[in-house]
Amino acid sequence: MKDIYCLAIESSCDETSMSIVRNGCDEIATVVVSQIDIHKKFGGVVPEIASRSHIETITIVLDEIFKKANMSIDDIDIIGVTYGPGLIGSLLIGLQCAKTISLVTGKPLIPVHHIAGHIYANNLEKRLEFPLIALVVSGGHTDLVYMDKDYSFKKIGSTLDDAVGEAYDKVAKILGLDYPGGPIVDKYAHMGKDTYDLPYPLDDNTYNFSFSGIKSATFNIVHNERQRGNNIRIEDVCTSFQNRVVHVIVKKTFRALQEYGVKNLIIAGGVAANKGLREALMNGAKERGINLSFPKIEHCTDNAAMIGAAAY
Ligand code: KG4
Ligand code: ZN
Repeated sequence: MKDIYCLAIESSCDETSMSIVRNGCDEIATVVVSQIDIHKKFGGVVPEIASRSHIETITIVLDEIFKKANMSIDDIDIIGVTYGPGLIGSLLIGLQCAKTISLVTGKPLIPVHHIAGHIYANNLEKRLEFPLIALVVSGGHTDLVYMDKDYSFKKIGSTLDDAVGEAYDKVAKILGLDYPGGPIVDKYAHMGKDTYDLPYPLDDNTYNFSFSGIKSATFNIVHNERQRGNNIRIEDVCTSFQNRVVHVIVKKTFRALQEYGVKNLIIAGGVAANKGLREALMNGAKERGINLSFPKIEHCTDNAAMIGAAAY
C-alpha cells in the first residue's frame, strides 16, 4: 500500500504547530511555536494576542516544517487541520492556511476535532486497540470516552463545570504561581504533605466530573490563611489538591473499564503529563491487568503530530 503523508496544522489555542506524519503513526517532523512567554504576564491566554501571534508565526512554521522534514509540498498527500473546539480567532489562522494550501495544490483537506487529535496522539506510540476507554484531561475538557472502533467516540462522562487543567491553572494563580500552573502544581504536589481538608470532587456513581467546588474550597483556604496573617504552605496545598483530584479521576476511570468490560485504557490531553495521575493509573492498571498507554510528554500538550495521526 502507498504511504500517506499528512501535513497537519494545529492553532486552536496558544501553540502554532505543524507536523508531517506518515500513515497516522510515524512522526516525520514537528514544529511547535509556543506563545506561553507572551501570555505569562497576563496570567492566562489573551485570545486577541493569540490570534495576532499565530498570524505572525504561521508562514515561518510552514517553511520550517518542510526544511526540518527535508520534504516539499509535492511529497504531501493530505492536509489535516484542527477545526475546533478552541479560540475562534486562533483556529481561523490555521484553518485559513490549510484551506489555502488545499485550494492551491488540490490535495484533500481533512478537518480534525481537537480532542480526536489528543486521543490519536496515542497512535504515535502504538496503534489503538479496541474496545478502549480514553480518559481526556486537558485545559478545556475532562471526558471519559468509549471507543469500539476507529473514529467512533461515545462520551460516557464529562465535566459539569471547569475542566481539570483549568482548575489546576486557577489554583496555581491564587497561589501566585506562573502560567500555565498545571506542571508547577504537579511539581510542588510531590514536595508537600496532604494536610489541607479539601473535598473529594464529585465522588459519586456517575462518570461525570466537577472541579469548581474543590477550586473554590482551595481559594477559601488560601484567603482565610492570608486574612489571619498565616503562611500558606504552597506545597501542602498542591499535594492536598492533587491527591483529591487524582483519586476521583482514577476511581471513575477504572469503574468505567470494569463496567464496560474493557481492557485497554489510553490517556489524552495536557493533564496526561501529570506525574501523580500517571503513577496512580499505572499502579491501578498493573493491579487489574489493564493495558495502559500514554502519549509522549510532548504529545500530551497541544501539537500538530496528534492532528496528523487523527487526520489519517
Ligand atoms: O491539552 P492542552 O495542551 O490544551 C488544551 O487543549 O486545553 O492542555 C493544557 C492544560 C493546561 O491547563 C496545563 O496547566 C495542563 O494542561 N497541564 C498539566 C500538566 N501539564 C500540563 N496539568 C497538571 N499537571 C501537569 N503536569
Ligand atoms: Zn489541547
